[in-house]
Amino acid sequence: MQQTAITLATETKDDWWEVEALYDLCFAPGRTALSSYRLREGVAPITDLCLTARDQNGILAGAVRNWPVRIGDKRAILLGPIAVHPTRQGEGVAGILMQACLERARKTGWDRIMLVGDAPYYGRFGFERLDSVTMPPPTNPDRVLGIALTHGGWAGVTGAVSADRD
Ligand SMILES: CC(C)(COP(=O)(O)OP(=O)(O)OC[C@H]1O[C@@H](n2cnc3c(N)ncnc32)[C@H](O)[C@@H]1OP(=O)(O)O)[C@@H](O)C(=O)NCCC(=O)NCCS
Repeated sequence: MQQTAITLATETKDDWWEVEALYDLCFAPGRTALSSYRLREGVAPITDLCLTARDQNGILAGAVRNWPVRIGDKRAILLGPIAVHPTRQGEGVAGILMQACLERARKTGWDRIMLVGDAPYYGRFGFERLDSVTMPPPTNPDRVLGIALTHGGWAGVTGAVSADRD
């Protein structure tokens, strides 16, 4: 894996459309029809956990956003979307973004984080299948993955994931 000079920063208002354009490029058309987007509607993202990764020329190489969700009366982070520009994939940019999210999430007191994604990729960061947590359909249960950020962070947290709306 090639090492890249990447600078991480918290996403700002001015970054929003550039990040949206990156997601449009990296994901299949209709990405916002995915059930995870229903959990994000009308909910503010966790600003400390929305990050841009730029190269030495300031070009956007990758980005990640995170939202809060609820499972019963417990809160969790729903990680994503995460994407890396096709010309920068395989250089470890997503790894840098993932590690930064996990570190910031721990530092800011979150107990648990989850995502919907490919276990063969996210397993390298410690994500494991969450057998007792269900995402809105249609979501393949094999793709519902999580990490406890504190000891026993997922213990007793079971049920359907819902939006973190008041
Ligand atoms: C998935 C994605 C974010 C990874 O970004 P990246 O910066 O290329 O990832 P890294 O450089 O940290 O890791 C690359 C490694 O992950 C592997 N990898 C990437 N996607 C994978 C997947 N879906 N399943 C298994 N392995 C995967 C690569 O083969 C590579 O393996 P290697 O380290 O053995 O060479 C990027 O490919 C992307 O934006 N894809 C399109 C959007 C997307 O699918 N986002 C994730 C939604 S769940």
